[in-house]
Amino acid sequence: MTARSSLTVVLAAGEGTRMRSHQPKVLHPVAGQSLLAHVLEAAPAGTGAALAVVIGPNHDAVADEVRRIRPDAATFVQRERLGTAHAVLAAREAIARGADDLLVAFGDTPLISAATFERLRAPLKTGATLAVLGFRAADPTGYGRLLVDGGHLVAIREHADASREERKITLCNAGVMAFDGNKALGILEKIGKANSKSEYYLVDAVAIVRDMGLEAVVIETSEDEVRGINTKAQLAEAESVVQARLRKAALDAGVTLIAPETVYLAADTKFGNDVTIEPFVVIGPGVSIADGAVIHSFSHIVQSAIGQNTSVGPFARLRPGTSLGDRAKIGNFVETKGAILEAGVKVNHLAYIGDAHVGEGTNIGAGTITCNYDGFGKHKTTIGAGAFVGTNSSLVAPVKIGNGAYIGSGSVITKDVPDDALAVARTPQNNREGGAKRFREMKTRNKTPKGK
Ligand code: UD1
Ligand code: MG
Repeated sequence: MTARSSLTVVLAAGEGTRMRSHQPKVLHPVAGQSLLAHVLEAAPAGTGAALAVVIGPNHDAVADEVRRIRPDAATFVQRERLGTAHAVLAAREAIARGADDLLVAFGDTPLISAATFERLRAPLKTGATLAVLGFRAADPTGYGRLLVDGGHLVAIREHADASREERKITLCNAGVMAFDGNKALGILEKIGKANSKSEYYLVDAVAIVRDMGLEAVVIETSEDEVRGINTKAQLAEAESVVQARLRKAALDAGVTLIAPETVYLAADTKFGNDVTIEPFVVIGPGVSIADGAVIHSFSHIVQSAIGQNTSVGPFARLRPGTSLGDRAKIGNFVETKGAILEAGVKVNHLAYIGDAHVGEGTNIGAGTITCNYDGFGKHKTTIGAGAFVGTNSSLVAPVKIGNGAYIGSGSVITKDVPDDALAVARTPQNNREGGAKRFREMKTRNKTPKGK
């Protein structure tokens, strides 16, 4: 049997007024990625799986997000917001191509899983025309109620149009539906707007299917999976559901989370084996943590690659573009950004390493700052392997410090320092007896300090 083709239409044209934000609703993040990205990633993908997203006018940022996640997806603009059925028909051109299964999902229902889409498609294979995703709502107020008779789905009644008896029903419409793709357009075109809001309600498809003598069914799922996000409070609830899932998945994969409820992960966080994360760590999008790494408390990490057997924090901030080689050490109150630190580099305390490349085994002393911004542009600092940067040094970029070079404490480096050279600020300590003096002595014996 050949696999059935599908078209998933994701409705995302809403303004999301109740979020009280200038940002379109579906771009608000949960676990470091937009609501829309969650839905698009759960939707069927691969050969024979097409995707269309219905967006509002002037929502270019939403279209950009669609392209970023699923470059193969088509976007359609719904110019007037006349209801969910009207929104689906904005993608008429894609629907008319007649995929075997037409799936409809909402962009503001981010917790839906790929497995649920597949469960919903199953009844279509055995002859049902429409499958509706339902759930038992703790508080059904506001949801469409599923009217079921002898195991058959007969109709969906929107809250505003429901009778007192119907409002007692707790089995509700999650909003996700699967249609027989060849019949879908005919059904959608029959939907009118004879309801209290004068909107074209997608839910009316159920009664139409029944009137045509065809089969509509309900597939049930948990309320947690189909939470719709309309407010910031609901956004926060969804975040806590997703975080619980991500923590459990991390624990199941062997990550040590000492206090899981205090650790925040992103949907795309990647872990190696034997990673330990101490309490109160926040991990944003784009982070990978390799085998044996330890992330100490109160660290904040975004878009960074952390090598094997590294140690980060406590109180470290790794910003986008940070890459730590194996056995590197980032200590307390250290900030990195756009920084590649090779294996064994140590930045143990109170430093800012931005737009920099630091070679293997180099030691960066406390209070060292790469002065990467001159008020006009950003510049790069390159530090070689086996170098030593003394405490409280300012490295004024663009600047290069050679392999095995030695920078005395308190230095302000404005010119490149050659390999194995000594650069010191004229402080009594550097001149008379500190590491710089020892470095001079070592040089006479043709040795270099070993990064520590
Ligand atoms: C909808 C369902 C309801 C269900 C609930 C589940 C209908 C008529 N009602 O109600 O049965 O219980 O979801 O959360 O379908 N949208 C557009 N264009 C429009 C209207 C809506 O793109 O013209 C999009 C919205 O952005 C949103 C989705 O469709 O992503 C649902 O619309 P919303 O207004 O939230 O419907 P509900 O009243 O929640
Ligand atoms: Mg809604």
